[in-house]
Amino acid sequence: APKWPGLIETYRAYLPVSEQTPVVTLLEGNTPLIPAPAIAARVGKSVQVFIKYDGLNPTGSFKDRGMTMALSKAKEAGAEAVICASTGNTSASAAAYARRGGLRAFVVIPDGYVALGKLAQALLYGAEVLAIQGNFDQALQTVRDAAAHYPVTLVNSVNPYRLEGQKTGAFELVDVLGDAPDWLCIPVGNAGNITAYWMGFCQYHQQGKCRQLPRMMGFQAAGAAPIVNGAPVSHPETVATAIRIGNPASWDKAIAAQEASQGEFKAVTDDEILNAYRILAAEEGIFCEPASAASVAGLLKVKDQVPAGARIVCILTGNGLKDPDTAINHCNNQVKDGIAPDLTSVAKAMGF
Ligand code: F0G
Repeated sequence: APKWPGLIETYRAYLPVSEQTPVVTLLEGNTPLIPAPAIAARVGKSVQVFIKYDGLNPTGSFKDRGMTMALSKAKEAGAEAVICASTGNTSASAAAYARRGGLRAFVVIPDGYVALGKLAQALLYGAEVLAIQGNFDQALQTVRDAAAHYPVTLVNSVNPYRLEGQKTGAFELVDVLGDAPDWLCIPVGNAGNITAYWMGFCQYHQQGKCRQLPRMMGFQAAGAAPIVNGAPVSHPETVATAIRIGNPASWDKAIAAQEASQGEFKAVTDDEILNAYRILAAEEGIFCEPASAASVAGLLKVKDQVPAGARIVCILTGNGLKDPDTAINHCNNQVKDGIAPDLTSVAKAMGF
């Protein structure tokens, strides 16, 4: 048996599964918690910063935590097809887990706003990809309606099994750190993940697995910041296409988590996101996608509020390879090309 049997087996006692549940798994979870000394130095005050690199899940994002649960429960219920709306990662993950479980996957995406790697995944996994001339919020409304009328199971995070699976991220943090961190910094789009992490911390706390609960710090992109603004955004825009969402489904639950934890919601600009994205790659060696970098951008933005010596975790939700276009278009670097294939020319180009 594999050393890490996937998150359903590992956290079975904390999840709504039984011996009858057919476990659809790609051995997701158990992602590394990586110290981030360069980010910590920028915050100062002797803080410790850790990156939860959930981009190392099987399809490259945290969505796999939710999909192993959603697809296992869909299969248990006898479903033959699933459907989701997605800015890209949900569609890649739903496609992979659906196909692994032998189900059809329909994914509805906002045409032109899904990063290349995510689209490539959904197509190759064999999803039926439907691009609408609209944004994520419109896609979500469409798939909610479709699931109400046709024999397809909705696997967006409004499906409660998604959040059940995603709460295991919090379990892993506590299992590694020995307690909950002081702060949890997390990007917010449809607001499912912040809700799930809070569920996980509360459940572990009730079980006596951690002494404290973290302050939940949720970060939205400034052009798509409905929770921060207190009103839906009808035309959300941001370079972080994963969180280009104007009317989050788990809005109320996310507010409840923020209030109960004495946390905060803040907006970060695209420039701040891209700056954190470059710092993570060039100074920590960690390549995430732009939406993920919102967690670090947010931490750097509110660093004056951080208590001295605090232990902070930033969730990096997706792998940088998902979105190569943004990396190439927004790095302060370029290929030196046109070099002749000999030592003299290469050495000259190297500056020697
Ligand atoms: N980070 C990444 C990389 C995401 O893909 C998402 C959401 C989030 C953060 C925000 O998480 O929605 O739970 O608040 N992506 C969804 C999708 C919307 O369709 O892939 P959230």
